[in-house]
Amino acid sequence: MRDQATGTAPGKLILAGEHAVVYGHPAVAVAVNRGTTVQLRRRPGPTRVERAILHDARLHEAMLALLPPEGVGVHIESSLPVGRGMGSSAALAIALARAWFTLQGQEPDFQQLHEAGFKVERVFHGNPSGIDHAVAAIEGAVRYRNLPDGPEIEPLTVPSLELVVLDSGLAGDTRLLVQRVRDQRLVLQPVIAEIGALAERFIEALEMSAPPEVLGHMMTENHALLGRLGVSTVNLDRLARFALDAGAHGAKLAGAGGGGVVIALVDDPELLLRAAGKAGVPAFSVTVGG
Ligand code: MEV
Repeated sequence: MRDQATGTAPGKLILAGEHAVVYGHPAVAVAVNRGTTVQLRRRPGPTRVERAILHDARLHEAMLALLPPEGVGVHIESSLPVGRGMGSSAALAIALARAWFTLQGQEPDFQQLHEAGFKVERVFHGNPSGIDHAVAAIEGAVRYRNLPDGPEIEPLTVPSLELVVLDSGLAGDTRLLVQRVRDQRLVLQPVIAEIGALAERFIEALEMSAPPEVLGHMMTENHALLGRLGVSTVNLDRLARFALDAGAHGAKLAGAGGGGVVIALVDDPELLLRAAGKAGVPAFSVTVGG
């Protein structure tokens, strides 16, 4: 029997289709080169989170969605900002699931990993679509649909894209925002459908290696639709405008909104990073796809 095991998983950025994906529309998300590591160790006494960089009241409950109440110590490390739409809870869910399967000497297939991750994600996010932890489990780009009979997940080949992530410095509450959209679903239905149609066009454009101008324009359109859905904020709108003024091809909030990050598609990250530095906006670059 193993005494300890480690699991890792990356965070994600949604390029198009957040929120609408909860209602069966397609969305596309990519893994990023930041992530979470979970180390599990057998220990006497109750299962306990012994070290964590994130402090969330739901953390213990989330661990017990997979782990037994007795006998496991949990160490969590992450390079993902929490509550910023970069899939920190999904990366935690999949890293935990990987470590737990390994501790038991099992090698899960994708389905088992995704289902285990869902149990943890539901503690954090209520009723999520599952896109975040699908990306964490695949560790690449996916086209995702949340269908009544189960998710439809297709790995995607995405051309190399240079993104700059601009951090609003505020955490958004995914559970609350998803619920707020759900409560107004009837009124918001046309906007949700528009986001879904846009995401479908975006995926086609990605598959045809459309130029960044075209992709960027769609990202900016997606941001405006998310604003109509009520999940953007003055701050996020300002950051998107800032990126466009600094020459980005397009910019959108990424994730649930209400805070979190804006992603900007650029040719040269340095230009926008320098402008962000001067304006005091926390920012970093991420290359996805390729
Ligand atoms: C959150 O990263 C993405 C949302 O679409 C919620 C979900 O898909 O569960 C806002």
